Amino acid sequence: MSTSGARPARKAVIPVAGMGTRFLPATKAVPKELLPVVDRPALQYIVEEAARAGLPEVLMVTGRNKGAIEDFFDSTPELETALEKKGDAARLDAVRSSTDIAQVHFVRQGEAKGLGHAVLQAAAFVGDEPFAVLLGDDLIDARDHLLEQMLAVQAEHGGSVIALLDVGMENIDKYGAVAVEPGGQPALDGDEVVTVTGLVEKPPVDEAPSSLAIIGRYVLSPQIFDVLRETEPGRGGEIQLTDALATLVARGEPVHGVVFSGRRYDTGDKLDYLKAVIRLAAERDDLGPALRTWLHEFVSELPAEGASPA
Ligand code: UTP
Repeated sequence: MSTSGARPARKAVIPVAGMGTRFLPATKAVPKELLPVVDRPALQYIVEEAARAGLPEVLMVTGRNKGAIEDFFDSTPELETALEKKGDAARLDAVRSSTDIAQVHFVRQGEAKGLGHAVLQAAAFVGDEPFAVLLGDDLIDARDHLLEQMLAVQAEHGGSVIALLDVGMENIDKYGAVAVEPGGQPALDGDEVVTVTGLVEKPPVDEAPSSLAIIGRYVLSPQIFDVLRETEPGRGGEIQLTDALATLVARGEPVHGVVFSGRRYDTGDKLDYLKAVIRLAAERDDLGPALRTWLHEFVSELPAEGASPA
């Protein structure tokens, strides 16, 4: 059985076929996963995270209007030659390292029928092994070790592992929500490992089992593919990964959660995207000092909430 902890996950799947409607009109022509967070596309951070966690083989599930993603991970000989001629070693290194992070493969989803349907397109690539799923618009700070921790939990317990964040009851209707057994196990970095007993996609606030929301990291048992093949469209008419995980739980397969306490940005959401850009730029050695000085001045001149800027 592949659910035992004997075979560690080695492959990562990154679904990037969604329509990105929250970021229109920018996403009419540019995939939201390529919007720059400072000077790198959001997606580059995510591939780097997979490689850091020991998952060098990456499959991207793409769709229409996402050709630029394939171009980004392709090598660029003309650009490299031009930078070489100029002797611009720093930029040459930046260009090369963006393509050398991992071995990136692509498969098409065809029609955006939901996250569960996107994950199902990875069945042939994954085979009969546990694998990680990283959402292409969910950025976890590089200083936090969420995915490593999830892989360790999967290796220990088998089954599947999902990332959870306490978003408060007032926000839970925007996420997949989970019920968990009381009493979790403390884990690294202040995180906690819990046993999941039920999942529901975007429940009304008064029906949510808890304020723990599913965020964009999963380590899944390959059993998920058989379940996804039989999963009917759910919330929003989409084939929901949350519904397939709920079926696994109902069948008695272990599903654990790592309750994350670190820094996470939903770069598909405009406000969160802005926060990610400002925070990551403010912490960089090259841009940080000047940006922090400007931010202090800017904030001190801001009118109180409710008043309009001058
Ligand atoms: P989202 O719901 O955040 O993506 O899906 P979306 O549909 O692109 O965004 P909005 O709400 O319209 O702005 C989470 C992840 O799943 C992928 C998305 O690309 C995103 O990374 N996804 C979603 C697919 O790959 N295929 C789908 O059919 C749906």
